Amino acid sequence: MKNIVILISGRGSNMEALIAARDAGNLPVNIAAVISNRPDAKGLETAAKAGIVTHYIDHKGFAGREAFDAALAECIDMFSPDLVVLAGFMRILTEGFVRHYEGRLLNIHPSLLPSFPGLHTHQRALEEGVRIHGCTVHFVTAELDHGPVVIQAAIPVLDGDTEESLAARILRQEHKVYPQAVRWFAEDKLSLVDGKVRLAADLRDDTVLIAPELR
Ligand code: GAR
Repeated sequence: MKNIVILISGRGSNMEALIAARDAGNLPVNIAAVISNRPDAKGLETAAKAGIVTHYIDHKGFAGREAFDAALAECIDMFSPDLVVLAGFMRILTEGFVRHYEGRLLNIHPSLLPSFPGLHTHQRALEEGVRIHGCTVHFVTAELDHGPVVIQAAIPVLDGDTEESLAARILRQEHKVYPQAVRWFAEDKLSLVDGKVRLAADLRDDTVLIAPELR
């Protein structure tokens, strides 16, 4: 069974979705550790309650990104992960860190990338007036919220939607697609080859999740 390490910065609901999928027998992985850059991340408590080893490395205690990322990688590597899963880990990562985990570093982002990388994705989607919004699971590259796309979920932007209503509907999709992507990796059906996503042939139709309203 593959070892995964999950990185969080806050609430940790995507992490919870991964734990729930594992507990339901739908995600054959060993969650070796959950690590946060914030000591007060709520998700750390949730993980500890689920019996998972937790650590925090407070980024504020480091002079710069290189030093923090080196300490973070040292902590992660204690658990010999096959895959590192960024689940609301709100840090810009150094090139060295990303290269070290090339092909075994996944992120989830609350927009249909490459639209709206960065923060405030739902507010920006509303400001732009897009009719379709969603979330993306991708392999991480040195560019923020950028990299080969594994799976995307799309929802319509409805009249009267607010940042909160969009965030809530997209989060429900995030909780479906992230365990799905991690499961594919765990089952050796997903990998990164020459910078491109390689998926088992029978899965290609499953890489887009479209809300019923859009069908
Ligand atoms: C999620 O919406 C995730 O997509 C986003 O942070 C939230 C974390 O929620 N990540 C990013 O914006 C990465 N650029 P969670 O802590 O409840 O999983």
